[in-house]
Amino acid sequence: MKEKLEHIRQHAAQDILRAPDTGALEQVRVAYLGKKGELTLLLKQMGGIAAEERPVVGQLANAIRVDLENMISERSRVLGEEALNKRMIEEALDVTIPGKRTPLGKKHPITIVLDEAKDIFIGMGFEIAEGPEVEDEYHNFTALNTRPGHPARDWQDTFYLSEDSRVLLRTQTSPVQIRVMERKKPPIRVISPGRVYRKDEVDATHSPMFHQLEGLVVDKGITMTDLKGTLVQFVKMLYGEDARLRFRPHHFPFTEPSCEVDIMCFECQGEGCRVCKGEGWIELLGAGMVHPRVLEGCGIDSEVYSGFAFGIGVDRLTMRRFNINDLRLLFENDIRFLSQF
Ligand code: PHE
Repeated sequence: MKEKLEHIRQHAAQDILRAPDTGALEQVRVAYLGKKGELTLLLKQMGGIAAEERPVVGQLANAIRVDLENMISERSRVLGEEALNKRMIEEALDVTIPGKRTPLGKKHPITIVLDEAKDIFIGMGFEIAEGPEVEDEYHNFTALNTRPGHPARDWQDTFYLSEDSRVLLRTQTSPVQIRVMERKKPPIRVISPGRVYRKDEVDATHSPMFHQLEGLVVDKGITMTDLKGTLVQFVKMLYGEDARLRFRPHHFPFTEPSCEVDIMCFECQGEGCRVCKGEGWIELLGAGMVHPRVLEGCGIDSEVYSGFAFGIGVDRLTMRRFNINDLRLLFENDIRFLSQF
């Protein structure tokens, strides 16, 4: 009996050490220690041996069972460790492999200049207002003191969206002035950047869609000096201290008096060259004191309040800022061009 037990111990020990994985190890355990395992079956034959030998054999069998169980758990630990090491090697990440670069987008030059312009005006206490690009004739023309039959309303210049000329693509950001004054009473200090549309043929300085930045200030005691000071300060902050402005008398139906403002050509410093078409100056914006009729139309007492307004050509502002000589470059969206800014 003892020999048989020792025999089982030896074979089981070998099988345990050879088990290649935890599945095989479990089979070995069942084969020897399970309910129908070799050791268990052998012990069931204990009845056949002499009574005085039973305790000794029983003890030995128990010791063997404990030994084998210990061996199995040790083997299981080793197998687990091996499997983990193998996985770590197989699934290792090479952190030294160079990454794949995703090309990053950039701000469009118009957006860069608009953001700078907004920062400057916000610093002066302006708020940002928005208005629709699809406008009605009342806000785009009538409320801006532009009478029926005025040349600015011409079908040749304006994209009308309805047969009766009531709905159109705004030709200027000035209708936002009206929308602001309808909502809010003075003091008013707003800017409103956005797209505008006119029936222009595309060339180096024209596009049927372009950008304006409208400004409106209404309060007690606002004068033309406030207008000049604001615009000169804005241009110097954007372009530097030596930027020079020229104010020329002009006409707009919704301002009185009105002016156009030019900036000294960055290329020739006023001498006249190709960029400024020999003028020495480049037109940048229209402006003026808000016409009393416009204020009154919005329910603002023009005896008490006055204001100024301006409309800056943002695309021109951008071209001058980056020395871009063709407007079309701003709208063609060629990545090779845009990635330079
Ligand atoms: N809306 C005018 C234009 O498009 C510019 C302007 C704005 C003039 C505000 C005066 C006051 O030409």
